[in-house]
Amino acid sequence: MNLFSALWLCFALLVAIGKYQHELDLPTCLTGVSLSKRQPDSVPASEDLTDLVQSGQDELYYGPVLVGAKTSKTFTCDFDTGSSDLDIPGPDCTPANGCPEAQNLKYDNSGTSAGNSTSVTYGPGMVTGDNYIDTVCVAGLCAPNTGFVSLNMSSGIDQNPPTCLMGMGFPEIAQSGLPPFFNNLINQGHLDDNSKEFSFCLGRAASNTQGKSKLTLGGRDTNSFKGEVTEVPVTKRGYWKVQVDGMRVNNGTILLPTIAEALSKADGAIDTGTTIILAPYAAAQGIAAAIPGAIPIALPLGLTGGVGNAMILANAVTAYPCNTDATVSMVFNGKPFEINPLDLSFGQLTGSIGQCFTSNGIFSSTILKLLSSLFDGKKGFPYCVASIAGASITGVQPFYVVGDTFLKNWYSIFNQDNPAAPYVGFAEANCQ
Ligand SMILES: *[C@@H]1O[C@H](CO)[C@@H](O)[C@H](O)[C@H]1NC(C)=O
Ligand SMILES: *[C@@H]1O[C@H](CO)[C@@H](O)[C@H](O)[C@H]1NC(C)=O
Ligand SMILES: *[C@@H]1O[C@H](CO)[C@@H](O)[C@H](O)[C@H]1NC(C)=O
Repeated sequence: MNLFSALWLCFALLVAIGKYQHELDLPTCLTGVSLSKRQPDSVPASEDLTDLVQSGQDELYYGPVLVGAKTSKTFTCDFDTGSSDLDIPGPDCTPANGCPEAQNLKYDNSGTSAGNSTSVTYGPGMVTGDNYIDTVCVAGLCAPNTGFVSLNMSSGIDQNPPTCLMGMGFPEIAQSGLPPFFNNLINQGHLDDNSKEFSFCLGRAASNTQGKSKLTLGGRDTNSFKGEVTEVPVTKRGYWKVQVDGMRVNNGTILLPTIAEALSKADGAIDTGTTIILAPYAAAQGIAAAIPGAIPIALPLGLTGGVGNAMILANAVTAYPCNTDATVSMVFNGKPFEINPLDLSFGQLTGSIGQCFTSNGIFSSTILKLLSSLFDGKKGFPYCVASIAGASITGVQPFYVVGDTFLKNWYSIFNQDNPAAPYVGFAEANCQ
């Protein structure tokens, strides 16, 4: 792991924590929209996603979104099941405020103003802008009258590319108060009763499938997965939140210690927009304890590494021998789903991991020294850092954020055929 990837591992961690700090504090708006029935569009419809690879690691996935009935422009959006707003750079947003320079990469406000605005704190950053309503199309499916935020400020967000964020969570957590694009497709009758789902195949640089990433709307791409689909019920509309029964090391033969396993039961948001897995602190510690030779790199309680209004009580990353044959799984519906060993590693650990924490003011120099003594002398015995981070945050129940580290191995289907009983489906990914 070089300094650069160490830096953005921490960045990914901070973004994920910031994003979920309002977990217990969600607006409970919404939403009986009445529909005029029309003929459903031809589905499923797919489009290729681009895997943004940084230092050999898959950071995020984005693809084209067309916006505007009068002057249609194509934006590149990060498709994010962990949020529900569509954020697009607006005409007044300057590079100093985190937007691209070129005017043709910005929305021109030629739609209808919704008459209100949105302001959201995302971990290290903040986005603000006025709400607009216009036609939005993805993979050839168009929803007129879709609301979004025309940004005038987009600070602290990794911008380049993608320049836009398409939230694919439920309307209940839309900060703009406007239904997300996919729910507009449903509400406007573009999808029939059995196709109210979208699906992701996320490729992987480490197995050379980064060019095979794909988003499918209105169904699933049956060529992109193998075997049966396990349907995991959503526990609460908002995020795509399901129950995580726990985490396991070695296919259930070595279970986590009982207490840690019990503690590792929690809800988890299935989040295409988060790079790594964020686990409750106790679960992350339990995993570290169960991988032979692994070393938890934990920080003491009560740190003031606050993000937005959240206070990080504890966080941890795990270093493990790169040549381990331990496998780590997440358990859903009582069944283990393995994290591909290629995805478990976030790269080889060197002393530079310490840098990322100091740059955020979290690691003390004492801990840095300890780290160096642990790792720098171990020539011929490389350690890798796991792409599972532990965190507990003030005021927030223990929870998981199940990001791309998991989703690269498991084709994911986000189904709301029955709005009262949505589910996330997982099947073995085989991106084509
Ligand atoms: C951005 O728009 C919001 C909402 O209209 C406004 O309150 C804020 O002052 C604007 N900020 C900038 C930097 O233009
Ligand atoms: C903004 O206005 C739209 C249209 O009137 C409304 O549906 C939405 O809830 C409003 N958003 C907020 C945050 O008030
Ligand atoms: C893991 O367990 C499952 C079910 O018990 C079994 O089919 C599979 O072969 C096991 N895998 C390994 C690597 O042991």
